[in-house]
Amino acid sequence: MPRRTNPVPRSTPPGPALQRRVRVYRQLRAAIEQGSFAPGARLPPSREQARALGVSRNTVMWALERLRIEGYIVARVGDGSYVAPDLTALHAPPRAATARPLQPAAVLSRRGRLVADTALRWQPPLQMAAPFRIGAPDVAGFPFALWDRLARQAGSAERQALAQYLDPAGLAALREAVAQWLWVSRGVRCDAAQVLVCSGSQQALDLVARLLLDPGDEVIVEDPGYPGIRANLLGNGAQVRPVEVDDEGMQVEEGVARWPKARLAVVTPTHQFPTGVRLSLKRRLALLDWADARGSWVVEDDYDGEFQYGAHRLPALLSLPQAGRVLHVGTFSKTLHPGLRLGFVVLPHSLLPAFASARALTDRHAPGEVQAVLARFIAEGHLLRHLRRMRELYPQRQRVLIDALAEASAGALRLAPSDQGMHLVHETTRGRSDLALSARALEAGVVLAPLSRYTIESRRRGWLFGFAGYDEAALRRAAVRVGRLWARA
Ligand SMILES: Cc1ncc(COP(=O)(O)O)c(C=O)c1O
Repeated sequence: MPRRTNPVPRSTPPGPALQRRVRVYRQLRAAIEQGSFAPGARLPPSREQARALGVSRNTVMWALERLRIEGYIVARVGDGSYVAPDLTALHAPPRAATARPLQPAAVLSRRGRLVADTALRWQPPLQMAAPFRIGAPDVAGFPFALWDRLARQAGSAERQALAQYLDPAGLAALREAVAQWLWVSRGVRCDAAQVLVCSGSQQALDLVARLLLDPGDEVIVEDPGYPGIRANLLGNGAQVRPVEVDDEGMQVEEGVARWPKARLAVVTPTHQFPTGVRLSLKRRLALLDWADARGSWVVEDDYDGEFQYGAHRLPALLSLPQAGRVLHVGTFSKTLHPGLRLGFVVLPHSLLPAFASARALTDRHAPGEVQAVLARFIAEGHLLRHLRRMRELYPQRQRVLIDALAEASAGALRLAPSDQGMHLVHETTRGRSDLALSARALEAGVVLAPLSRYTIESRRRGWLFGFAGYDEAALRRAAVRVGRLWARA
């Protein structure tokens, strides 16, 4: 029997002796796989092999033992080692289909192709994290030290409890904290049993699409609107039906008349993405009436509802008494940071078990420790404090952006201010392409998303300027580079 070797800790680099053993093992395994030793063939005695390879006999014995455990060879007592006789399949030529390089189009299922194609179209290579990329909060201002302190507060009993498989609906403490937060912050009355913790709003929408829609079902979306929503719906086999957006938000009456079969509508009523308008009360009520009359659903994507800077904050659609068919989706991607991957959906009680089990089917549940820290973060008032700081900071940054662009463009580019959100939109004449200027901005190192990227049928064109996640110096530098493009235009 070969001498037992001490296990080598994974974190330390393998010593020269172990490296030699692994090299001999790989050589022998390759020889067997390439047919130098046929199935059933006797391997040269270990002493001979050691001499030929210039290593110790122990090294060869270690390699042989590993090959034996893995099934490549069999050892016969007193008679050395033989290649396992039943390994003829090792040398069978690959079938034609396997030998060709894999082509996703040929390999993926029809459903898989739909998912992959729509997802790829939605998510081009990640844009650089530079001004004026939209959607980024001020991560530099995130209270990481406080977060770590809260994480350390958990005693060993709590940590052990969180290390188990957990409720897919989310930690009770977090669901409780979210329900209370929604009341204070968004005027929504719900109880913790209606809150399902999700991995961001993207997962919430995926669950809605998978559980409430059948392939081919029609869904009304805003045009322009959020591509992440559209891609998810398409990937889940739904038909996406665009409805134009004007100064009062989505044109609800025209939309439901044009698409009478729609089973779901997805809206961003507090701060329409990306145009930034609010859905008027009249249209809110029309939308709720439509859902009620048809038995359809309204998804309220409240992605940045907390960032309203004026004295009066518009409450969520779900706060209206007629909102029985509204599924309210919230995220911590903007209020905290997107790397957390935490959000939630508020559901009617009766739907919660189906949604929670569906979530368990894909990823079981969100990481327990992170949920616990977030629950504490909200319950101890840190979320409110953090938001207060951000609600002061973002309007200042917006002001810097507007002034810097006006100055750098010699007055040619004047963005209209907004008392909401984390980005501004500057529209150009309808139908004029916005792509060329975005490409020139990118060459100058500035991300300037063209409005056309967010449209389906709409002819609205323009550019999006994210400001929340960049300090004043970075905003000014980018404004100088982009302002020049306007000054020259
Ligand atoms: C309209 C809209 N909804 C939702 C999200 C957030 O997605 P998630 O919560 O999955 O990070 C974004 C992010 O940019 C958004 O723009």
